[in-house]
Amino acid sequence: MSRLKGKVIVVTGAATGIGRGIAAACKEQGAEVVLVDINPDVETVAGEIGGTGLVLDVTAGDSAEEAVETAIREYGVITGLVNNAGRVDEADILETDDDLWTRTMALNLDAPYRWSRVAIPSMLDAGGGAIVNISTIEATHVRPRHFPYVVSKSGLNCMTRAIAVDFGRQGIRCNTISPGSVDTEMYERYTAQYPGLREHLIGLNYAGRLGTTAEIGAAAVYLLSDETRFLNGHELVVDGARTVAT
Ligand SMILES: NC(=O)c1ccc[n+]([C@@H]2O[C@H](COP(=O)([O-])OP(=O)(O)OC[C@H]3O[C@@H](n4cnc5c(N)ncnc54)[C@H](O)[C@@H]3O)[C@@H](O)[C@H]2O)c1
Repeated sequence: MSRLKGKVIVVTGAATGIGRGIAAACKEQGAEVVLVDINPDVETVAGEIGGTGLVLDVTAGDSAEEAVETAIREYGVITGLVNNAGRVDEADILETDDDLWTRTMALNLDAPYRWSRVAIPSMLDAGGGAIVNISTIEATHVRPRHFPYVVSKSGLNCMTRAIAVDFGRQGIRCNTISPGSVDTEMYERYTAQYPGLREHLIGLNYAGRLGTTAEIGAAAVYLLSDETRFLNGHELVVDGARTVAT
Protein backbone atom coordinates (compact mmCIF):
# COMPACT_ATOMS: atom_id res chain seq x y z
CA MET A 1 0.00 0.00 0.00
CA SER A 2 2.66 2.53 -0.90
CA ARG A 3 1.95 3.57 -4.46
CA LEU A 4 2.01 7.22 -3.34
CA LYS A 5 4.85 7.08 -0.81
CA GLY A 6 6.64 10.44 -0.66
CA LYS A 7 3.74 12.31 -2.28
CA VAL A 8 2.05 15.30 -0.64
CA ILE A 9 -1.40 15.87 -2.09
CA VAL A 10 -3.92 18.70 -1.57
CA VAL A 11 -7.56 17.76 -2.20
CA THR A 12 -10.30 20.40 -2.40
CA GLY A 13 -13.89 19.69 -1.38
CA ALA A 14 -12.65 16.86 0.82
CA ALA A 15 -15.14 16.97 3.72
CA THR A 16 -17.47 14.58 1.93
CA GLY A 17 -18.22 12.71 -1.28
CA ILE A 18 -15.66 12.22 -4.02
CA GLY A 19 -13.07 14.52 -2.41
CA ARG A 20 -13.17 12.58 0.83
CA GLY A 21 -12.91 9.29 -1.10
CA ILE A 22 -9.88 10.57 -2.99
CA ALA A 23 -8.14 11.86 0.15
CA ALA A 24 -8.73 8.55 1.94
CA ALA A 25 -7.46 6.50 -1.03
CA CYS A 26 -4.32 8.66 -1.31
CA LYS A 27 -3.56 8.32 2.40
CA GLU A 28 -4.10 4.57 2.20
CA GLN A 29 -1.43 4.46 -0.52
CA GLY A 30 1.14 6.25 1.63
CA ALA A 31 0.66 9.92 0.64
CA GLU A 32 0.44 12.82 3.06
CA VAL A 33 -2.85 14.61 2.44
CA VAL A 34 -4.17 18.13 3.04
CA LEU A 35 -7.96 18.17 2.98
CA VAL A 36 -9.59 21.51 2.14
CA ASP A 37 -13.27 22.36 2.45
CA ILE A 38 -15.57 25.26 3.25
CA ASN A 39 -17.37 22.88 5.61
CA PRO A 40 -15.71 22.81 9.07
CA ASP A 41 -16.39 19.02 9.21
CA VAL A 42 -13.24 18.72 7.13
CA GLU A 43 -11.16 18.92 10.31
CA THR A 44 -12.89 15.85 11.78
CA VAL A 45 -12.63 13.99 8.47
CA ALA A 46 -8.92 14.86 8.24
CA GLY A 47 -8.46 13.51 11.76
CA GLU A 48 -10.18 10.26 10.81
CA ILE A 49 -8.11 9.84 7.66
CA GLY A 50 -4.83 10.96 9.20
CA GLY A 51 -4.28 14.15 7.21
CA THR A 52 -4.32 17.91 7.76
CA GLY A 53 -7.69 19.67 7.55
CA LEU A 54 -8.09 23.25 6.37
CA VAL A 55 -11.36 25.17 6.47
CA LEU A 56 -11.16 27.36 3.39
CA ASP A 57 -13.41 28.66 0.63
CA VAL A 58 -11.50 27.70 -2.53
CA THR A 59 -12.91 30.74 -4.34
CA ALA A 60 -11.69 33.20 -1.72
CA GLY A 61 -8.67 35.51 -1.80
CA ASP A 62 -5.45 33.68 -1.14
CA SER A 63 -6.92 30.37 0.00
CA ALA A 64 -4.75 28.52 -2.54
CA GLU A 65 -1.59 30.15 -1.16
CA GLU A 66 -2.63 29.19 2.36
CA ALA A 67 -3.17 25.54 1.40
CA VAL A 68 0.12 25.26 -0.49
CA GLU A 69 2.02 26.97 2.34
CA THR A 70 0.41 24.59 4.85
CA ALA A 71 1.37 21.53 2.79
CA ILE A 72 4.98 22.73 2.57
CA ARG A 73 5.15 23.70 6.25
CA GLU A 74 3.68 20.37 7.40
CA TYR A 75 5.22 17.98 4.90
CA GLY A 76 8.08 19.84 3.12
CA VAL A 77 6.66 19.86 -0.44
CA ILE A 78 3.52 19.69 -2.54
CA THR A 79 3.52 17.11 -5.34
CA GLY A 80 -0.18 16.69 -6.05
CA LEU A 81 -3.36 18.77 -6.34
CA VAL A 82 -6.89 17.48 -6.85
CA ASN A 83 -9.32 20.19 -7.94
CA ASN A 84 -12.54 18.51 -6.83
CA ALA A 85 -14.83 21.09 -5.16
CA GLY A 86 -17.70 21.84 -7.51
CA ARG A 87 -21.39 22.67 -7.81
CA VAL A 88 -24.21 21.66 -10.13
CA ASP A 89 -27.51 23.47 -10.73
CA GLU A 90 -30.57 22.86 -12.87
CA ALA A 91 -30.75 25.67 -15.39
CA ASP A 92 -30.75 26.28 -19.12
CA ILE A 93 -29.19 29.46 -20.48
CA LEU A 94 -32.34 31.55 -19.93
CA GLU A 95 -32.63 30.32 -16.35
CA THR A 96 -28.97 31.15 -15.71
CA ASP A 97 -28.75 34.66 -14.33
CA ASP A 98 -25.47 36.49 -13.93
CA ASP A 99 -25.23 35.50 -10.29
CA LEU A 100 -25.54 31.73 -10.95
CA TRP A 101 -23.16 31.98 -13.89
CA THR A 102 -20.57 33.84 -11.80
CA ARG A 103 -20.86 31.52 -8.80
CA THR A 104 -20.57 28.41 -10.98
CA MET A 105 -17.55 29.68 -12.87
CA ALA A 106 -15.91 30.86 -9.64
CA LEU A 107 -16.06 27.38 -8.10
CA ASN A 108 -15.82 25.02 -11.09
CA LEU A 109 -13.37 26.92 -13.29
CA ASP A 110 -11.73 29.95 -11.64
CA ALA A 111 -10.74 28.00 -8.50
CA PRO A 112 -8.97 25.17 -10.40
CA TYR A 113 -7.19 27.87 -12.45
CA ARG A 114 -6.04 29.76 -9.35
CA TRP A 115 -5.15 26.67 -7.31
CA SER A 116 -3.16 25.15 -10.19
CA ARG A 117 -1.42 28.47 -10.84
CA VAL A 118 -0.37 28.68 -7.19
CA ALA A 119 0.63 24.99 -6.87
CA ILE A 120 2.66 24.57 -10.07
CA PRO A 121 5.70 26.68 -9.02
CA SER A 122 6.01 24.70 -5.77
CA MET A 123 5.61 21.43 -7.70
CA LEU A 124 8.41 22.56 -10.02
CA ASP A 125 10.57 23.22 -6.93
CA ALA A 126 9.75 19.66 -5.81
CA GLY A 127 10.97 18.26 -9.14
CA GLY A 128 7.51 17.70 -10.64
CA GLY A 129 3.96 16.97 -9.73
CA ALA A 130 0.52 15.84 -10.81
CA ILE A 131 -2.79 17.70 -10.98
CA VAL A 132 -6.12 15.90 -11.26
CA ASN A 133 -9.21 17.87 -12.21
CA ILE A 134 -12.58 16.36 -11.35
CA SER A 135 -14.89 17.03 -14.27
CA THR A 136 -17.97 15.08 -15.41
CA ILE A 137 -19.15 13.01 -18.37
CA GLU A 138 -21.67 15.83 -18.86
CA ALA A 139 -18.91 18.08 -20.19
CA THR A 140 -18.94 16.04 -23.40
CA HIS A 141 -22.34 14.28 -23.17
CA VAL A 142 -24.42 17.28 -22.22
CA ARG A 143 -27.32 16.81 -19.86
CA PRO A 144 -30.28 19.14 -20.54
CA ARG A 145 -30.69 22.14 -18.21
CA HIS A 146 -27.20 21.91 -16.76
CA PHE A 147 -25.97 24.91 -18.75
CA PRO A 148 -23.51 26.65 -16.39
CA TYR A 149 -22.25 23.30 -15.04
CA VAL A 150 -21.44 21.72 -18.41
CA VAL A 151 -19.88 24.89 -19.78
CA SER A 152 -17.65 25.28 -16.71
CA LYS A 153 -16.57 21.63 -16.75
CA SER A 154 -15.83 21.67 -20.45
CA GLY A 155 -13.53 24.62 -19.77
CA LEU A 156 -11.92 22.56 -17.02
CA ASN A 157 -11.28 19.70 -19.48
CA CYS A 158 -9.46 22.12 -21.75
CA MET A 159 -7.51 23.54 -18.79
CA THR A 160 -6.22 20.03 -18.16
CA ARG A 161 -4.90 19.69 -21.69
CA ALA A 162 -3.38 23.20 -21.72
CA ILE A 163 -1.46 22.63 -18.48
CA ALA A 164 -0.28 19.21 -19.71
CA VAL A 165 1.09 20.73 -22.90
CA ASP A 166 2.63 23.82 -21.30
CA PHE A 167 4.31 22.05 -18.35
CA GLY A 168 4.72 18.40 -19.40
CA ARG A 169 8.36 18.92 -20.33
CA GLN A 170 9.02 20.30 -16.85
CA GLY A 171 7.59 17.27 -15.08
CA ILE A 172 4.07 18.47 -14.40
CA ARG A 173 1.22 16.18 -15.42
CA CYS A 174 -2.41 17.23 -15.51
CA ASN A 175 -5.27 14.79 -16.08
CA THR A 176 -9.05 14.78 -15.78
CA ILE A 177 -11.35 12.28 -14.14
CA SER A 178 -14.89 12.39 -15.51
CA PRO A 179 -17.20 10.43 -13.26
CA GLY A 180 -20.63 9.18 -14.21
CA SER A 181 -23.18 8.88 -11.40
CA VAL A 182 -21.44 8.51 -8.04
CA ASP A 183 -23.15 7.98 -4.70
CA THR A 184 -22.50 11.26 -2.83
CA GLU A 185 -24.43 13.96 -0.98
CA MET A 186 -24.47 16.10 -4.12
CA TYR A 187 -25.97 13.23 -6.07
CA GLU A 188 -28.56 12.56 -3.38
CA ARG A 189 -29.56 16.25 -3.27
CA TYR A 190 -29.90 16.38 -7.03
CA THR A 191 -31.84 13.14 -7.60
CA ALA A 192 -34.12 13.68 -4.58
CA GLN A 193 -35.77 16.55 -6.48
CA TYR A 194 -37.22 14.27 -9.17
CA PRO A 195 -39.00 11.00 -8.37
CA GLY A 196 -37.52 8.12 -10.39
CA LEU A 197 -34.44 10.05 -11.54
CA ARG A 198 -32.02 8.04 -9.43
CA GLU A 199 -33.26 4.74 -10.90
CA HIS A 200 -33.30 6.22 -14.42
CA LEU A 201 -29.66 7.32 -14.17
CA ILE A 202 -28.54 4.01 -12.68
CA GLY A 203 -30.25 2.31 -15.63
CA LEU A 204 -28.08 4.28 -18.06
CA ASN A 205 -24.86 2.58 -17.00
CA TYR A 206 -23.76 -1.04 -17.37
CA ALA A 207 -22.75 -1.67 -13.78
CA GLY A 208 -26.37 -1.52 -12.64
CA ARG A 209 -25.51 0.67 -9.66
CA LEU A 210 -23.99 4.01 -8.74
CA GLY A 211 -20.24 4.38 -8.67
CA THR A 212 -18.59 4.69 -5.27
CA THR A 213 -16.29 7.41 -3.98
CA ALA A 214 -13.66 4.69 -3.38
CA GLU A 215 -13.75 3.85 -7.10
CA ILE A 216 -13.06 7.49 -8.01
CA GLY A 217 -10.36 7.49 -5.30
CA ALA A 218 -8.70 4.50 -6.99
CA ALA A 219 -8.70 6.33 -10.34
CA ALA A 220 -7.11 9.38 -8.69
CA VAL A 221 -4.39 7.26 -7.04
CA TYR A 222 -3.57 5.84 -10.47
CA LEU A 223 -3.21 9.31 -12.03
CA LEU A 224 -1.26 10.75 -9.08
CA SER A 225 1.20 7.86 -8.88
CA ASP A 226 4.47 7.47 -10.78
CA GLU A 227 2.94 4.46 -12.54
CA THR A 228 1.35 6.93 -14.96
CA ARG A 229 4.37 9.15 -15.65
CA PHE A 230 3.67 8.96 -19.43
CA LEU A 231 -0.04 9.69 -19.01
CA ASN A 232 -0.66 13.40 -19.42
CA GLY A 233 -3.51 15.58 -20.67
CA HIS A 234 -5.87 12.60 -20.53
CA GLU A 235 -9.55 12.35 -19.60
CA LEU A 236 -10.23 9.19 -17.60
CA VAL A 237 -13.94 8.39 -17.81
CA VAL A 238 -15.23 6.38 -14.84
CA ASP A 239 -18.89 5.79 -15.64
CA GLY A 240 -19.71 2.06 -15.84
CA ALA A 241 -19.71 2.24 -19.67
CA ARG A 242 -22.59 4.74 -19.73
CA THR A 243 -21.13 7.02 -22.40
CA VAL A 244 -19.79 4.32 -24.72
CA ALA A 245 -23.28 2.96 -25.31
CA THR A 246 -25.63 4.25 -27.99
N1 LIG B 1 -21.51 12.78 -7.53
C1 LIG B 1 -21.55 12.63 -8.85
O1 LIG B 1 -22.32 11.82 -9.37
C2 LIG B 1 -20.62 13.42 -9.73
C3 LIG B 1 -20.61 13.10 -11.10
C4 LIG B 1 -19.76 13.80 -11.94
C5 LIG B 1 -18.92 14.77 -11.43
N2 LIG B 1 -18.94 15.07 -10.10
C6 LIG B 1 -18.01 16.11 -9.64
O2 LIG B 1 -17.28 15.65 -8.52
C7 LIG B 1 -16.97 16.73 -7.65
C8 LIG B 1 -17.42 16.38 -6.22
O3 LIG B 1 -18.79 16.05 -6.25
P1 LIG B 1 -19.54 15.37 -5.01
O4 LIG B 1 -20.69 14.65 -5.59
O5 LIG B 1 -18.57 14.68 -4.14
O6 LIG B 1 -20.09 16.72 -4.31
P2 LIG B 1 -20.53 17.01 -2.76
O7 LIG B 1 -21.46 18.17 -2.86
O8 LIG B 1 -21.01 15.74 -2.13
O9 LIG B 1 -19.15 17.47 -2.14
C9 LIG B 1 -18.54 18.66 -2.58
C10 LIG B 1 -17.67 19.20 -1.47
O10 LIG B 1 -17.12 20.45 -1.93
C11 LIG B 1 -17.23 21.38 -0.86
N3 LIG B 1 -17.27 22.75 -1.36
C12 LIG B 1 -18.29 23.35 -2.01
N4 LIG B 1 -17.99 24.64 -2.24
C13 LIG B 1 -16.75 24.85 -1.72
C14 LIG B 1 -15.92 26.00 -1.63
N5 LIG B 1 -16.28 27.19 -2.14
N6 LIG B 1 -14.71 25.87 -1.03
C15 LIG B 1 -14.33 24.68 -0.50
N7 LIG B 1 -15.09 23.58 -0.55
C16 LIG B 1 -16.29 23.66 -1.15
C17 LIG B 1 -18.52 21.00 -0.14
O11 LIG B 1 -18.58 21.53 1.17
C18 LIG B 1 -18.46 19.48 -0.19
O12 LIG B 1 -17.77 18.96 0.93
C19 LIG B 1 -17.67 17.96 -8.22
O13 LIG B 1 -16.75 18.74 -8.93
C20 LIG B 1 -18.71 17.37 -9.16
O14 LIG B 1 -19.01 18.22 -10.22
C21 LIG B 1 -19.78 14.41 -9.24
